[in-house]
Amino acid sequence: MKGLILSGGKGTRLYPLTYTSAKQLIPIANRPVLVRVIEAIRDAGITEIGLVVGDTAPEIERVVKQGTQWGVNITYIRQESPLGLAHAVKISQDFLGDERFVMFLGDNVIQGGISPLIGKFAESGYNAQVVLTRVDQPQQYGVAELGADKRIIRLVEKPKDPPSDLALVGIYMFDPHIFEAVNSIAPSWRGELEITDAIQWLIEHQYNVHPYIHTGWWIDTGRPGDMLTANSLALEELTPVIEGYVDRESEVDSRVTVERGAEIINSVVRGPAIIGQDTRLVNAYVGPFTSIYHHCLIENAEISRSIVLEYSQICNVGHRIEDSLIGRHVVVQRSPMRPRAYKFTLGDHSQLGLVGEGA
Ligand code: G1P
Repeated sequence: MKGLILSGGKGTRLYPLTYTSAKQLIPIANRPVLVRVIEAIRDAGITEIGLVVGDTAPEIERVVKQGTQWGVNITYIRQESPLGLAHAVKISQDFLGDERFVMFLGDNVIQGGISPLIGKFAESGYNAQVVLTRVDQPQQYGVAELGADKRIIRLVEKPKDPPSDLALVGIYMFDPHIFEAVNSIAPSWRGELEITDAIQWLIEHQYNVHPYIHTGWWIDTGRPGDMLTANSLALEELTPVIEGYVDRESEVDSRVTVERGAEIINSVVRGPAIIGQDTRLVNAYVGPFTSIYHHCLIENAEISRSIVLEYSQICNVGHRIEDSLIGRHVVVQRSPMRPRAYKFTLGDHSQLGLVGEGA
């Protein structure tokens, strides 16, 4: 089998972070979402992976390269504009040839990997396998309607009136019949060739599409809130290791990972949390569900349930920072200069929540 990862898209809901970086490269528990996807596919025994990229191709190539670091071989496939998931399959036909393949959306994070799923599909005679999970807001996803025999009756993309709460998770397995489907469907109202419509075409043409119901967690990391939730869940699964330095004045509980070269000086860290490579905490408090990436400095400050990206500094801040997503090379500090006022340099679409005196 081969793997196909879709890593295009602009990530507009994650502005301003995604002005400067692909959303798939944002780390969850200090591991970029895309790296998690590559490893999940590799752990299922697949090493030939096609990576469909769009405008953010240069940044993605800079990080992923040929994939040797993860023991896989990456082939880049350029999608000129985001014309839909089925369009991505269409342009990947040369790479995929007549092999069965797994397609994984590069911004999805799923609990427990995909090895059992792949195993089941590889041994089966199914033409396709889709992964479904129960969600609170099915209107935001592709939705499946199952019959009494648990087979799929129909699939609809973002229905106003959902026939069930079973959403399509961004992981699909296909045999080459999918190419007939993607070449037969027309663009949807949003101008995209929808993979949901292609799978619906397979069902209508009597191909065997098997639904697999996933019961663990799954997050489509489209918005900042989803990122923080995925980060919390991934941190809970981490096996903690202390590779950095923790001084005797610090208190670091058993669910904390301290990466190589990190230093924790006179600070308290409550897990689950991860402190990245060469990051320093000085007189700081880092609370549960926080990931601080590499080369950061947190000094005389408190932060919890947040993600801080590389080379950022948070120093001498009076109030605790919570539920925050902080980009690269960001500086948050108390200003020593008069007048005593808030002083911001915020990029477009930045969001700032101030602690106010009022109601
Ligand atoms: C896509 C699919 C949708 C699926 C979702 C999962 O939606 O079209 O069926 O439920 O991924 O993440 P999109 O992210 O393009 O809105």
